[in-house]
Amino acid sequence: MAARFIFAFSILVAVPVLLLSQAPLPGLTEPRGQGLAARVEGRPPDIFFNPTRHAIADAMLQLAGVAAGDVVYDLGSGDGRIPIIAAQKYGARGLGIEIDPRLVTQSWGNANDAEVANRVKFIVGDLFEADLSEATIVTMYLSPSIMKRLIPKLRALTPGTRLVSHQFDMPGWPPDERRQVDEAEILLWRVPK
Ligand SMILES: C[S@@+](CC[C@H](N)C(=O)[O-])C[C@H]1O[C@@H](n2cnc3c(N)ncnc32)[C@H](O)[C@@H]1O
Repeated sequence: MAARFIFAFSILVAVPVLLLSQAPLPGLTEPRGQGLAARVEGRPPDIFFNPTRHAIADAMLQLAGVAAGDVVYDLGSGDGRIPIIAAQKYGARGLGIEIDPRLVTQSWGNANDAEVANRVKFIVGDLFEADLSEATIVTMYLSPSIMKRLIPKLRALTPGTRLVSHQFDMPGWPPDERRQVDEAEILLWRVPK
């Protein structure tokens, strides 16, 4: 009787403990620092946050010939630096689309500090789903696979829209210009008719 009780008790305790020990700890299997936001949005980021250095961001905007009438969209806008520079230095308007809500909050704080919060906007969203039709310039620091996926969407933009990529090419669509800035290459396309 006692042996049967001990056996049943050990099954009841051991099995759940074993199962729990196999389950991944929450957060450990997710991209570092992005997991919670990604879960909130129900969509994991396609690339980690890695900021473009300010000098390179500025060179990207200059390569695009940014001016006060432009509307600069940054796809995966991180801490908001590219739309903020576009507004602060060139008087353009800027929009950042970013999947991580914490980076969007940080971007608004940075825009306030730079006193351009009335000229920029940051939204939590998926760059693949975003409406880019109002952009006159689109900036990107993404990855080869994301650039490849974006080609049909970018090709469909208004002819003359300028596209600038930090580092990554678009396969089958050679850039109109490319420039080396310190360690980085920046590339410019103009959407054709
Ligand atoms: C390499 S960082 C570039 C940040 C900023 N554009 C810059 O150049 O400083 C890429 C950014 O894209 C964001 N991201 C990744 N997948 C995304 C998606 N599907 N939609 C919107 N943002 C995304 C990441 O959270 C990250 O902030």
